[in-house]
Formats: sequence, structure tokens, C-alpha cells
Amino acid sequence: MTFTPRAAWADAPAPLRAAVADALGSTITGHTDLRGGMSPGPAAALRLADGRTVFAKAMSAEVRAHNHMLVRRESAVLDVLPRSVPAPHRLATVEWGPWLALVTTWAAGTTVELWTDTSIDAVVAACRTASGHRAPDGLRPVAERIYDFDGWERVVAAGPADEWEAAYAVRAAEVAADWARWTAGDALVHRDIRADNTAVDAATSSATLLDWAYAAAGVPWLDLAQLSADIVGTGHGLGGEVATDRAYRLIQTLPTEAARFVVALTGMWRIRAATTQDAVLPTISTWRRERVRALRPLVTRLITDLTEPA
Ligand SMILES: Nc1ncnc2c1ncn2[C@@H]1O[C@H](COP(=O)(O)OP(=O)(O)OP(=O)(O)O)[C@@H](O)[C@H]1O
Ligand SMILES: [Mg+2]
Repeated sequence: MTFTPRAAWADAPAPLRAAVADALGSTITGHTDLRGGMSPGPAAALRLADGRTVFAKAMSAEVRAHNHMLVRRESAVLDVLPRSVPAPHRLATVEWGPWLALVTTWAAGTTVELWTDTSIDAVVAACRTASGHRAPDGLRPVAERIYDFDGWERVVAAGPADEWEAAYAVRAAEVAADWARWTAGDALVHRDIRADNTAVDAATSSATLLDWAYAAAGVPWLDLAQLSADIVGTGHGLGGEVATDRAYRLIQTLPTEAARFVVALTGMWRIRAATTQDAVLPTISTWRRERVRALRPLVTRLITDLTEPA
């Protein structure tokens, strides 16, 4: 799902585009605008006179200060990631007035619209490689990159909106409680694993993790828990039941807290859909509600496993 038509690269200010070319030491001979992602700013594949293709995204603080801050933060994160992490490498960061552009190496492969078993396997492997690294100095504890994990607690306080919530919200809130403690660790965590933040290369069955603005230090299973929620939220090519099955199976390979994480993450989408409006991304509440709906069968099963042990 696309939130808003991304701005076109050609509409970014000419001096910014010229400064990007300068920083890359080559002329931009062509470009392809990219869709997807959460930012209204342009993202593009740039073709350079020296033969390279690179990735660029740009954002103006006047359009959405939050995304502008994220581009700056991602730029700093990319600089401290070890080369063995499956991430793009930063090539340039350019500022012009309120505009900021980040240019990285191009990641081979494609960003899938729906998960497949092959793309799940590739991203699982990439997440395991990433989390096999100790978080570099300078990355913040993951608790500082997790928001609204008290969502179910707030649903309980406000009153359940339907029968499912009447039956499960209290237990969901108990399951999510104390998340700052059980997500703490010193592994490298990407923290924003979604299909649109990955590139999967079918030729090598490998994946690159993209969009590192939320990277943090935490427990090593966290990205796989986030991936399992996204398999259901984004969907699987073979349908909703298969998505739930693949997500459940993945969670079974992880510590129990991974199930708690998925319940808490769903509570985050639930409360945000109800309480946050976004003028720049007006469809984001619909996207969040849709995720909560899709995740219900999985979350029901996880809450049952966690609170009614066999
Ligand atoms: N290095 C890369 N190589 C190839 N394609 C990329 C690369 N980085 C991103 N993409 C593609 O561009 C899309 C948008 O990029 P990205 O996820 O970095 O931006 P975003 O989510 O809009 O940004 P932000 O979270 O900073 O607002 C991705 O969904 C992906 O398809
Ligand atoms: Mg993204």
C-alpha cells in the first residue's frame, strides 16, 4: 500500500539535485522514481554517467519534519554499520536549505508486494546476519525506538470497541506489559522490518535490509518478531491463512517474548489508528486498522498460547 504519491525526483529543487551529482562526482544521466515506503519525499534510482546506479531519497523539513529527521538519522546509522551487515552503503548526504538528500548503493533485487516463502527465507537470513552483530556504539536502546506499546492498556482504559477486544484486550495488555525490560539487549536491531524496507534478490536468494532510521540495540530476535507481524500485515501470495501460518511458525523458532512483541505491536497499530491523525499521510489510519484486522487470528492464537499454557 502506498500512503501518498511520493514526490517526483525531478520536482526536488534543482540545486539539491546538482549538489547530489557533485557529491557523487558524476553526472546524473537518468532516473526512475520509486513508489512505496512511508515518506512523501522523492525516492529514485539514479543512473550516473560513470555507469553506476544508486539509490537516493530526499525530504524537506517543511513538508514533514519527522521524515527529514529520519533521513538525517539513517545517514548517521549507515556510517556505523559494519560492512558485513546486509545494508546499503552510504555514498552521500547533501543538504540544501530545508532539504536533505541521502544517497546509498543500489540494493540488488526487488521489494516484494506480497511475501513468498522464498522472500521470507531470504529476509530471515538477512535479519539473523544483522542481529549476529553487536549494536555499534552510538545506537540507542531499542526501548527508545518503540512507541505506543501500551496500546492495549489504553484500549482497556477507554473501553473495548468490539467483542474481540472485550474478550482479549485485558490479556493482551498483560502480555505486552514490561516490554522495555524484555526487549533490552546489545544486538543490532533494524526495528522497522517490513516488506517495503527490504530488497530480495531472487538470483542469490539473499536480501538487503533497507531504511535504517530506527536501528537500535536490543534483543537479537526482535527483527524476526517484527517480520512475522509484517508477513500477516503485508500478506502472503498464498493468502491470509498461509500468512498467519508462516508467521506463527517463525515465532515458534524464537523465545516466548517474540509472541509478546507481536501482541504489543498490534496494540500499537490499534491505538495509533484510533488516536493519531496525519495531515500529510491521511491514509495511514486505514493502513493501521487493516493490519490490526489481519493480525487478529494470529494474535488470538498467541494470547491463548501465552495465557492458557497446555
Ligand atoms: N538502496 C536501495 N536500493 C534499491 N531500492 C531501494 C533502496 N532503498 C530503498 N529502496 C526502495 O525505495 C523505497 C523507499 O525507500 P525507503 O524505505 O528507504 O524510504 P521511506 O520508507 O520512504 O523512508 P523514510 O522511512 O526515511 O521516510 C523502498 O520501499 C524500496 O523499494
Ligand atoms: Mg521505508
